[in-house]
Amino acid sequence: MPIEIERVDFLVIGGGVAGLRAAIELAPHGDVLVATKDVPTESTTRHAQGGIAVALSDEDEVGIHYEDTIKAGAGLSDEAAVRVLVEEGPERIQELIDWGAEFDRDGADASKLSFTLEAAHSRKRVLHAHGDSTGRELVRVLLKKVQGLPSVRRYPSAVVVDLIMHEGRCVGAYVIQHGVLRAVLASATVLATGGAGQVYAVTTNPIGATADGIAVAARAGAVTHHMEFVQFHPTSLQHPWAPHFLLSEAMRGEGALLINVCGERFMERYHPKGELAPRDIVSRAISAELHRTEAQHVFLDLTHMDPAFVQKRFPNIYSTCLGFDFDISREPVPVSPAMHYIMGGVRTDKDGATNLDGLLAAGECTNTGIHGANRLASNSLLEGLVYGARAGATAAGQAMHSGLNKVEPLAPVRTIPAHDEIRGALRRLMWERVGIIRCEKSLTEAREELSRWEFILEAHYQTRRELELKNMIQVGILITDAALARRESVGAHFRTDSEA
Ligand code: SIN
Repeated sequence: MPIEIERVDFLVIGGGVAGLRAAIELAPHGDVLVATKDVPTESTTRHAQGGIAVALSDEDEVGIHYEDTIKAGAGLSDEAAVRVLVEEGPERIQELIDWGAEFDRDGADASKLSFTLEAAHSRKRVLHAHGDSTGRELVRVLLKKVQGLPSVRRYPSAVVVDLIMHEGRCVGAYVIQHGVLRAVLASATVLATGGAGQVYAVTTNPIGATADGIAVAARAGAVTHHMEFVQFHPTSLQHPWAPHFLLSEAMRGEGALLINVCGERFMERYHPKGELAPRDIVSRAISAELHRTEAQHVFLDLTHMDPAFVQKRFPNIYSTCLGFDFDISREPVPVSPAMHYIMGGVRTDKDGATNLDGLLAAGECTNTGIHGANRLASNSLLEGLVYGARAGATAAGQAMHSGLNKVEPLAPVRTIPAHDEIRGALRRLMWERVGIIRCEKSLTEAREELSRWEFILEAHYQTRRELELKNMIQVGILITDAALARRESVGAHFRTDSEA
């Protein structure tokens, strides 16, 4: 396959909060290409509902946000990385407000930012926008900012194939755009490709969340860490026709209750904080109730709340559920857990640097160490902002062209027979064997199945669907191996045969 070469100073792969924030930081230092697999407005960020956690309210302190984050991480968070997050968070949010972000406000004159509560936060600290469309607002503001920066060019429909390594350094990436293979050569490359939800059959993540950044980095020799820690969100819409649409934790923060199919509240039997117990505990409690009642769902119930409030506070969730014939303000809505977030990823330091020269990373595809074994709700958008800016600043200091003027051809290029069937089987396998509850037997069975598809990792492909499948298999193996290696239950990694 012929290769077209393109040169830029900086390549950012991914157009969510972390990638856009990195691009803004890089803009004064050279030309920046922001490559996105889809249209520039699409990313995991765009789908974020609940909000962005930041210690900015009068009743809050940076130190309390720090303590809540460390506690949620179950002893496995990197304390220095968390300190950076909570200390730099307020400045990054103020900057967004200065750029035009419209966070919801309280009071007659709307002078005060409105903060909500989510699980495991000891203060109301979650900012939100347009009720439940916080991610969309962030993307709007960051894209507007980027559009005003002449040195930043957007590069849509570009599917990353692999990183380009030269003498041990990352010097860019191969991408396929409209069927053309291109080698984008750059002084520094920032990976910000988002999450891995599509590796699982049941997920709140959008269709593009296929773990591409983690997979290409791992293939190039980047260290990955904490891949066993996968967060399952307790409440996604459970209905035969509907996707597993997220019903934000902020709904329970505002008072929504969980009831089982027998009409009983059950969370108090599992944790003193009831509906606002940590996310992993709520997900496991729902799994236990599903098993006990032989049901496919429990209900999220907001019917005791003022319907006008529910419709105003959660307009996106309200209208989406209405599209599936559920009026959340007047009837309990069926929900069940779904894969939501991966705490593990490409290991980075506090400046977004990986172990590979020339390769930086930020956002969900990374493991900065902030989240430990379990992410505190709504810390991820903040991480994208804080660490996206940091990774951009570090990349700016790496303006060192390789002088490379030709690249190795990619060979062999193949096709994957029955790739759609394999994709479905992989996703079911991960959900059933490497899901909310795991054990040696389920993980070993999964690993054996995954080995049957390892041949797919040996070749290159030309289509998005095949490249994604290769990446999903690679990351499925990384998650399963890490889950087998960690024999104790901790945070979101729960083994019925735990040794601790
Ligand atoms: C939610 O709105 O429940 C998701 C927030 C998050 O995952 O941080």
